[in-house]
Amino acid sequence: MIAIGCDHAATALKEELKDYLEAKGIPVRDFGTYGEAKADYPVSASKVARAVATGECERGVLLCGTGVGISIAANKVRGIRAVCCSEPFSAKLSRMHNDSNILCMGARVVGPELAKMILDEWLAAAFEGGRHAARVALIARIENGEAL
Ligand code: RB5
Repeated sequence: MIAIGCDHAATALKEELKDYLEAKGIPVRDFGTYGEAKADYPVSASKVARAVATGECERGVLLCGTGVGISIAANKVRGIRAVCCSEPFSAKLSRMHNDSNILCMGARVVGPELAKMILDEWLAAAFEGGRHAARVALIARIENGEAL
């Protein structure tokens, strides 16, 4: 199950990506927002990030104007490694090396077809573990308030 959410700047892209995922047979849970009315991005970021952090959803997709604000907000939830990507290479490597669990994109940055390519690469890539697992574990220690 993929959790998806957005603010008012990215509703159309969210609907398009939701349809795209569902057409591939991937179940999606939509955490809003649902229309054009102003909707603060930290709200949907919180909902999607919590769904991923609790394991209710396997991974998440968050969309705002730039992808930046919503990724910053999502990363405030413990256990979340949200990445803001505007090309497929970083999205793929963020899975392989950083075990990213939320993909963020900007609807004012990428068009829908590029967003689908980025999403496909991100979904297909697996975490490599090994030396990368040790680094991700260091990130978790920062989250726990440790100075490295
Ligand atoms: C909304 O205007 C815009 O600030 C938001 O979508 C996002 O780009 C913030 O990072």
